[in-house]
Amino acid sequence: MTWQANILTLFPEMFPGPLGLSLAGRALREGRWGLRAMDIRGFATDRHRTVDDTPFGGGAGMVMRPDVLDAACAAAVAESPAAPLVYLTPRGRLLDQALVRDLAAGPGVVLLCGRYEGVDQRVIEARGMVEVSAGDVVLSGGEPAALLLLDACVRLLPGVMGAAASAEEESHGTEGLLEYPHYTRPAEWQGRAVPPVLLSGHHAEVARWRRTEAEAATRARRPDLWDRHLRRRAESHEPAEAGRLDGHPAAA
Ligand SMILES: C[S@@+](CC[C@H](N)C(=O)[O-])C[C@H]1O[C@@H](n2cnc3c(N)ncnc32)[C@H](O)[C@@H]1O
Repeated sequence: MTWQANILTLFPEMFPGPLGLSLAGRALREGRWGLRAMDIRGFATDRHRTVDDTPFGGGAGMVMRPDVLDAACAAAVAESPAAPLVYLTPRGRLLDQALVRDLAAGPGVVLLCGRYEGVDQRVIEARGMVEVSAGDVVLSGGEPAALLLLDACVRLLPGVMGAAASAEEESHGTEGLLEYPHYTRPAEWQGRAVPPVLLSGHHAEVARWRRTEAEAATRARRPDLWDRHLRRRAESHEPAEAGRLDGHPAAA
């Protein structure tokens, strides 16, 4: 069955947007995944097609109405009954590669893109939405977050990336490390040489160097991920290349 994305938005013309290009666009044209952007305004019932109203309790901005959103959700869920219903919001759990892997392994996703001050809390609860944030930033709408989530999922679908990349070795792969740095020709550029081991043709040495670099980058740039990686290693009793299990880096 084709992985299906149904998007509820006030701006359906934003889709597929960048997802119509490159790997995701080709996969879309090949039918490896499906996309349907549904206009929330089409579910409004008054002649002005109103989708929002002022917040109870006062304050700035407008809030998206639960009745209109519920009707929109019903239509999307009827098309994809087994897919999780995700509301993109800065109040949600942070999107990460583990969640992306889970979503990509499922039947697809229904994404609700908010606008204004957000969505009436009651429809979030009544529909059992999963609240997901694209990062600790505030966007003007959920659409860029939906594009981000979909891009990350679609590249994991069977046949989309081909042999071009290994999802395991990438940053945030199964080991939870950042990826090692990459180099290509020329071997020397502006006085900067490629690390000699990469020119050695010695596959085991290259693998060892990449592993050490991945661990060092994770330790230096993302101590949170490094701690989690060390904990996982400790549970599986494996020694780390670049650090001791107490979280203090080994001498380089
Ligand atoms: C201007 S924002 C509303 C922000 C909200 N008043 C708050 O402070 O949490 C409008 C919409 O953009 C989307 N949005 C904004 N930031 C987001 C983020 N970091 N991740 C996912 N969606 C986001 C949500 O759908 C939200 O309803």
